[in-house]
Amino acid sequence: MATQQHQGASELLQRLRKIQEELGKVPGGAIAGLARELKLDEEQVYAVASYYPVFSPGQAASGRVPRALALSLAQSAGEIAILPAKGRILERCGRKLKDYEGYKKALSITPEEIIDLVKRSGLRGRGGAGFPAAVKWETARNALADQRYVVCNAAEGDIGAFMDRALLEGDVHSVIEGMAILARAIGASRGYIYLRAEYGGLIPAVEAALGEARALGVLTPEFDVEVFFAAGMYVCGEETALINSMEGRTGRPRNKPPFPAESGLWGKPTVVSNVKTLAQVALILREGVEPFLAAGTGRSRGSAILSFTGHAANVGVAEVPMGTSLADVVLKIGGGVAGGKKLKAVQTGGPLGGFIPAKDIDIPVTFEDFAAAGSPLGSGGLIVMDETTCMVAATRSFMDFNREESCGWCAPCRLGTEEIQAILRDICEGRGRAAHLGRLRAVAEAMAAASFCAFGQAAPNILLSALRHYPGEFEEHVLAKKCSCGFCRLGGGK
Ligand SMILES: Cc1cc2nc3c(=O)[nH]c(=O)nc-3n(C[C@H](O)[C@H](O)[C@H](O)COP(=O)(O)O)c2cc1C
Ligand code: SF4
Repeated sequence: MATQQHQGASELLQRLRKIQEELGKVPGGAIAGLARELKLDEEQVYAVASYYPVFSPGQAASGRVPRALALSLAQSAGEIAILPAKGRILERCGRKLKDYEGYKKALSITPEEIIDLVKRSGLRGRGGAGFPAAVKWETARNALADQRYVVCNAAEGDIGAFMDRALLEGDVHSVIEGMAILARAIGASRGYIYLRAEYGGLIPAVEAALGEARALGVLTPEFDVEVFFAAGMYVCGEETALINSMEGRTGRPRNKPPFPAESGLWGKPTVVSNVKTLAQVALILREGVEPFLAAGTGRSRGSAILSFTGHAANVGVAEVPMGTSLADVVLKIGGGVAGGKKLKAVQTGGPLGGFIPAKDIDIPVTFEDFAAAGSPLGSGGLIVMDETTCMVAATRSFMDFNREESCGWCAPCRLGTEEIQAILRDICEGRGRAAHLGRLRAVAEAMAAASFCAFGQAAPNILLSALRHYPGEFEEHVLAKKCSCGFCRLGGGK
């Protein structure tokens, strides 16, 4: 990877993982030896080893499902079902296609023309922020540099999200194709697939596909791709934290600007792009801009690839034109609620997202409509919640996760998640006080305003969304010390 100078740093995570696997821990004595071998400072090796829970014996790996959510909501494990709603992307899954038609088209036009196509499509990133793809591409291309990088963000840390896994399993060639097109557009010489720590089982198939792409001449010494296996931590899905972790540093977010497209991996222009975005790029080059623009509304064009879990009758992934009503998505494609129960809410946007109550689900699936509803679309994971769900306990689960995943670097996020977690625990265990409700809101608002990165700014979203839509449930827990849903301890549950 990169230059000789960066070799040791970039190997650090994988070497720590090997020690962890062999010894079940990373003993203090191993730190000095590893630092010597990789020509790194001992402090750096120690900082990295102690940052990731995966290297600390006795602690659960990050990215797990919080306890109460695991109890109340089924997760998709094992094989992923592709639901009948397939679009042009999901319909390729499982067909082992290696046509690379989009890449061939990219070779027939100039890099500027590729960027122009992506610009005309209005493609917005599918990783969560919905940022216009062409803006990043143009920035990276125009930055003066001797080297540029492409990183496929396959960290997929959102609770209840497994669309990226479905694409990597079903049609990884489209993802590699998107990377090769992006590389040609910006002049990148190297690409990485930053793979979620829990997706280690995908490595052999992804590496085999990279080998096939080399044999087809898509990947060459001028632009090749390798897998970078992450070490957990939800926040490492954030693009600058991701870059830090690839550089063998603690996976904490960096200040922005400079944005990665200006100065990213090893200080070089780097476009970090989600798995689904790259598959969309391949589709746009393959089929043209018009079909992409024909689906969707306003500034949300093309298709949305969504996953369904929780109490959904049909657990799996689906692809729908942007603008499709969420009600149709959840009730028709997701089959409504399992067991004939009533729908209570749809949780969207992962742990930084919010809730859309059943009465409001007739909104179009677009970035804009979900944002206006206070529950961002995020990367597209939908958790269906039935009438038995206690929204206080569910909120507590998400905030437990956010507390655990805060990198702890800045005070508003570290102390804010800690205080919210403590108050929600008190409320769920019958020690709630009336003043707690105002305090929750005040801490959440302070975090949103003062946290250093997008994680801390968005971490209280889910709490604010629950307080807005389900104030009665919070009041019942606090004032009557009761949980009508019967889930949490106040209702006689666990
Ligand atoms: C806390 C946090 C976690 C994130 N996790 C992911 C992730 O798992 N996958 C992803 O693609 N983007 C994730 N993002 C968004 C990335 O920072 C970045 O915007 C994205 O990878 C850019 O790709 P896109 O333009 O294709 O969406 C996360 C952002 C934050 C703030
Ligand atoms: S907001 Fe949270 S995750 Fe971001 S830097 Fe601060 S402590 Fe770390």
